[in-house]
Amino acid sequence: MQMYDIICKKKTNKELSTEEINWLVKEFTAGNISDAQMTAFLMAVYFNSMTERETLDLTLAMEHSGDVLDLSSIDKITVDKHSTGGVGDKTTLFIAPTVASLGVKVPKMSGRGLGHTGGTIDKLESIEGFNTSLSFDEFSDVVKSVGCAVVGQTGKLTPADKKIYALRDVTATVDSIPLIASSIMSKKLATGNSCILLDVKCGSGAFMKDKESAKALADTMVKIGNNAGRNCAALITDMTKPLGRAIGNSLEVIEAAEALKGKEKGEFFDLCIELSANMLSLAGKGTPEECAVMAKEAVESGKAFNKFKEMISAQGGSPEVVEDYKLFKQPKFIHEVYADKSGIVTCNDCEAIGLVSLSLGAGRTVKDAPIDHSAGVYLDKLCGERVEKGEKIATLYSSIDCDMAKIGERFSSVYQITDTNLV
Ligand code: URA
Repeated sequence: MQMYDIICKKKTNKELSTEEINWLVKEFTAGNISDAQMTAFLMAVYFNSMTERETLDLTLAMEHSGDVLDLSSIDKITVDKHSTGGVGDKTTLFIAPTVASLGVKVPKMSGRGLGHTGGTIDKLESIEGFNTSLSFDEFSDVVKSVGCAVVGQTGKLTPADKKIYALRDVTATVDSIPLIASSIMSKKLATGNSCILLDVKCGSGAFMKDKESAKALADTMVKIGNNAGRNCAALITDMTKPLGRAIGNSLEVIEAAEALKGKEKGEFFDLCIELSANMLSLAGKGTPEECAVMAKEAVESGKAFNKFKEMISAQGGSPEVVEDYKLFKQPKFIHEVYADKSGIVTCNDCEAIGLVSLSLGAGRTVKDAPIDHSAGVYLDKLCGERVEKGEKIATLYSSIDCDMAKIGERFSSVYQITDTNLV
């Protein structure tokens, strides 16, 4: 087989065979295909897309390029949730313990933040001692005894995706639906869960900026999951504004803890209940409506919050931090943002708010760079809320040497106040 012929075939919009796709993934992972040829292929996919069969083949080839986890010793049914990423998305911290408290196992592998989006692993690491690098046996033991565990991905899963994603990142070929879907689903399939709920974010803070592309991505991923023998479903959820009030690592753990205690009721809580309900439903616990009632009861009874504390303890952290938030590393600098007029709070650019949090130290622009767990943005006023001149709309936190006033100005240019007469 020749890579040249495969590139020509995709360039002229012909369908590749399963053998050709398996070959190119295997040879590229082994270092036998140059980045130049792989880039030409990826660009041809970008312009000509892939059929459903090709996309499934690409996913399966990437899934089997490294280790594939066998979770059957944990339980026959295990459930995962994947979010396509956004600003202030701390839902995993809520849904993992809530679903586990209702008897469904959640062995969860999550990522770190990069660019304007945060990562669950960074959030959990704001809890001193919390170990996100458990061995597979330790991970299985925690899931078996507690019901849920959240760890980072092992280095041996989907090496093909790692290499291809790195190339896509620098060749402007990330935003292709078959490439995104196969990249995400190869990792989800390799982690071995029998049920997968996808939370496809849509809006200015997400990969998918409009409803049509979010729906196309969701449909493609659900088809891959179901064709690969998993029980898979997707929700399309809003990312035109940050999710909840907190953006930044320890701030988000605190907000999730408040929601698990039943103290924080709003859009973030509602989304967490919807996601938990759909995960429970995929695992066969009832209709999403019945499961939503169960999830709310788990919060009201304290079961979900207790499960969160059990998970923190089992992974080496001290559960007292979610009782006494002063035990988190405290920020050195605080900058408050006040309304310069009365009106309605409006978010013009959700991604830009993620970038504000990043420049306060909460995120990273380079993979594996250190971050400031205490940094971030707290939205005292949410989008759509009325604010009077002089009221506080947000608080910025940081422990790094940065120009807080200037960052505050940048924040105000995207988190604006719209004149009520114009609304
Ligand atoms: N996240 C992934 O894992 N892969 C993509 O291609 C895009 C987002």
